Amino acid sequence: MTREEITKIRQDAELLITSAKSLPELEQIRIKLLGRKGELTLILRGLSSLPIDARKEIGFLANQTKEQLSVLLESRKVEFEKELETAAAEERIDVTLPGRQLWKGTKHPITQTMNEILEIFMGMGFQEELGPEIETEWYNYDALNFPPDHPARDMIACFQLGNGYLLRSHTSPVQIRVMEKKKPPVRIVAPGRCFRPDAFDASHSPVFYQVEGLYVDEGVSMADLKGTLEVFCKEMFGEKTKARFSPSYFPFTEPSAEVAISCVVCGGSGCKTCKSSGWLEILGSGMVNPKVLENVGYDSVKYTGFAFGMGIERVAMIKYGIDDIRLFYDNDLRFLEQF
Ligand code: DAH
Repeated sequence: MTREEITKIRQDAELLITSAKSLPELEQIRIKLLGRKGELTLILRGLSSLPIDARKEIGFLANQTKEQLSVLLESRKVEFEKELETAAAEERIDVTLPGRQLWKGTKHPITQTMNEILEIFMGMGFQEELGPEIETEWYNYDALNFPPDHPARDMIACFQLGNGYLLRSHTSPVQIRVMEKKKPPVRIVAPGRCFRPDAFDASHSPVFYQVEGLYVDEGVSMADLKGTLEVFCKEMFGEKTKARFSPSYFPFTEPSAEVAISCVVCGGSGCKTCKSSGWLEILGSGMVNPKVLENVGYDSVKYTGFAFGMGIERVAMIKYGIDDIRLFYDNDLRFLEQF
């Protein structure tokens, strides 16, 4: 072992220590130099095998080097620890800060009401069916027994799209589409969006929702119609609700009946909501006109049926005491958050 060798070890080590990039790297360097089998450790341990005069000189030099390198290692270590502390302080997360509020979505009141209506009828064995929003004259009018050029067509005026296409003005065309596909028994409810060129005011919207119902089989009678709709009215508006059937007219039903419920606000004694009549109209219905059954190829002697249709917004307005249909379409969160 010579002076030069020890000097070389020291110079190499100084370079390594100053260029070390992390605490673990620094620790590796320390072990390589001063660990149990480190370069300097071995030199110091081997001193006894040197001649007496060399032993003194080399021993002094090796101890001095060990001392210098230890100091250097220690100061680098402190530097690293400081850096880590600063980084940790910068990244510190304040767990006492309140979390950000998550916006929780809810179903639109029209959707909620629609689902409620559907569930009641599904409980009575009706199945959900859907039809297209773009229809033809045939499905929207002709097959439903609206005579050509008859004023009844104006009853349900519509948006024409040209080439015989139009935006459906009611969900009744779904009746025809379902009966064309299936043989009786047919027992369906069909929810969906409808369109009419009406002014947008407190009680009209050019876009609105309906639920259609249809039950056709052998021996379906007006009593079935009454029973089914009475159950619906009670389940939807409460056990005490009464249903009133009065004569009406629709080209696709004969006879036709309009259904009103006892006023949900005053119970029938008369108030502002029911305009002192005690009743609120909620849907149209009737026995399916035999001509409609024949239009889809059903035997109108063998089969009879009933149908009904209701506006979902109207049901929701009655149920929640809302007096302006436009609120459903403004989508003001202060309104929507109440449902
Ligand atoms: N389609 C009718 C309308 O939009 C509602 C209706 C009335 C549907 C009587 C029916 C029904 O199925 O039987 O005004």
